[in-house]
Amino acid sequence: MCGIVGILGKHEVAPTLVEALKRLEYRGYDSAGIATVNDGALERRRAIGKLVNLSDLLVHQPLAGKSGIGHTRWATHGAPTLTNTHPHQTRRVAVVHNGIIENYRELRADLAQAGITHQTETDTETVALLAQHYIDQGATPADAVRRTVARLEGAYALAFLFEDEPDLMIAARKGSPLAIGHGDGEVYIGSDAIALAPMTNRVTYLEEGDCAVLTRSTITITDPAGTPVVRTPRTIRVDAALIDKAGHKHFMSKEIAQQPTVIGETIAAYVAADASDINLPGEGIDFTKINRLTMASCGTAYYACLTAKYWFEQLAGLPVEVDFASEFRYRTPPISDGTAALFVSQSGETADTLAALRYCAGKAQSILSVTNVPESSIARESDLTLPIYAGAEIGVASTKAFTCQLTVLLLLALKAAHARGRISSQTLQEKLTAVRGLPAIFNQAMSIEDHVRSISQRLAESRDALFLGRGLMFPIALEGALKLKEISYIHAEAYASGELKHGPIALIDEKMPVVVMAPRDALFDKTVSNMQEVMARGGKVILITDQSGATSASEGVWQTIILPDIDFDLTPILYALPVQFLAYHTAVTKGTDVDQPRNLAKSVTVE
Ligand code: G6P
Repeated sequence: MCGIVGILGKHEVAPTLVEALKRLEYRGYDSAGIATVNDGALERRRAIGKLVNLSDLLVHQPLAGKSGIGHTRWATHGAPTLTNTHPHQTRRVAVVHNGIIENYRELRADLAQAGITHQTETDTETVALLAQHYIDQGATPADAVRRTVARLEGAYALAFLFEDEPDLMIAARKGSPLAIGHGDGEVYIGSDAIALAPMTNRVTYLEEGDCAVLTRSTITITDPAGTPVVRTPRTIRVDAALIDKAGHKHFMSKEIAQQPTVIGETIAAYVAADASDINLPGEGIDFTKINRLTMASCGTAYYACLTAKYWFEQLAGLPVEVDFASEFRYRTPPISDGTAALFVSQSGETADTLAALRYCAGKAQSILSVTNVPESSIARESDLTLPIYAGAEIGVASTKAFTCQLTVLLLLALKAAHARGRISSQTLQEKLTAVRGLPAIFNQAMSIEDHVRSISQRLAESRDALFLGRGLMFPIALEGALKLKEISYIHAEAYASGELKHGPIALIDEKMPVVVMAPRDALFDKTVSNMQEVMARGGKVILITDQSGATSASEGVWQTIILPDIDFDLTPILYALPVQFLAYHTAVTKGTDVDQPRNLAKSVTVE
């Protein structure tokens, strides 16, 4: 992971580097640092912990220079100490890196044989030392970088700065994204366009294996063979409200509250004005030519896929296989004829999801993706990308991206159901009318917040929690448990309600809160039976249901959260809200870092 940035500017760059790093902090916040070339010499400032520590340091120890690179770290190789903080620097070279150099041990050994020793535990220092080594042998900076990256295995986005070279920055990428920003007499590089947004909206994405030699007036990009290549700049639309909490205490709270709006925007982008059809971008997809769907994703996006499996199978009769992308990519699953592959990713950059996509490219009939970043690697490498219109999501724990992903996936399943003759045009229209009503119902449901807050104040005292759900509620129970553990650090597990008696029931005692997700659908009575088994053993049940479910089953439960009635196919989207609120208010009660929970990062660009 990690975020990197670089600037060849007309003015002092330190403040702008810090501003850009702030926009990249979602990629990691273990430590941060910047380096500049000033009066021909390389100099750096680094601080462990969040970016604010680096900002404080720069107040007391400013860093001059009009050329600089910066880094915000999510530690992979070596603890988050000052020594391991980027930029890594040798006599003549400073480097920042996002990714993992898998063969760094061999490279370290080779360098050691040449008498070159390391000061840090990082794989990145090896890159700096290799480049320095080639420069010492007489290579130009550009040749030194090309020779260095030719020896690297693994994933990297790299930016180099050189002593005595105030008008030179070199960037290289393989496996990790990197964008070049075009300014007026200035040039920038960044892990994504969001980092560069205050400086420019004209961006060129480097392709796999590209190396870019940048000066303020020239950009030369070469492929791994050293052949010059042309990469076309694009104009990027970047959300101006990105780093504004809009009066909320946390981004997560703002993003939860935005859901009725962004779900509405997502629906408007896909559903025809008369609710008769779903319009897909480009040529769309012909679901009559597909007999199987394979899906792979990570984290919350994986739970969106798991929900979609129920929709595609039940509504469209389309068999679906879902796997964690990290498992899928090494499982070498056979891809049969007529299979389409679908990948869901908020960032569009998750390394495992991208690798799973690449595994399917050429094997599957079509590659589809659902992503929040239309310029991302996953979007660019798909045959068809379905955007979710959630807007920039800053809170590390995904909320609005999840419900927008679910919305698009439901629409896609309805499209498939209609195309495959499983539902009539009239049923499609009825379903789409219900979908159009979702933002208003979601908005109405926001009124549960005060009640959920008071429950959360009690939940915060627990050490563990269980979440139960059946059918469409099972993936939402999984998402609820994930949300709670990632931001409140309470150990939480989710089980399919029917699995309870096969083991987890042994965990139930008076101290165990059990969140039961059960709209009054066809499976309600079954789930309620499992809930009774919990209560019979003293478990404290938090029942999340609708009015009818509450009337029939809330006797004896500890707390009941009542949501408005909605078409049962839409319940996963609506029932995500109470589990988001539960996790959020529990974390706030505990005083944890809601938007940047420990050890996590929003975009995971390493395996
Ligand atoms: C990280 C984030 C999660 C996210 C997952 C997948 O673990 O913390 O919130 O669900 O990555 O990210 P993606 O960008 O592919 O949806």
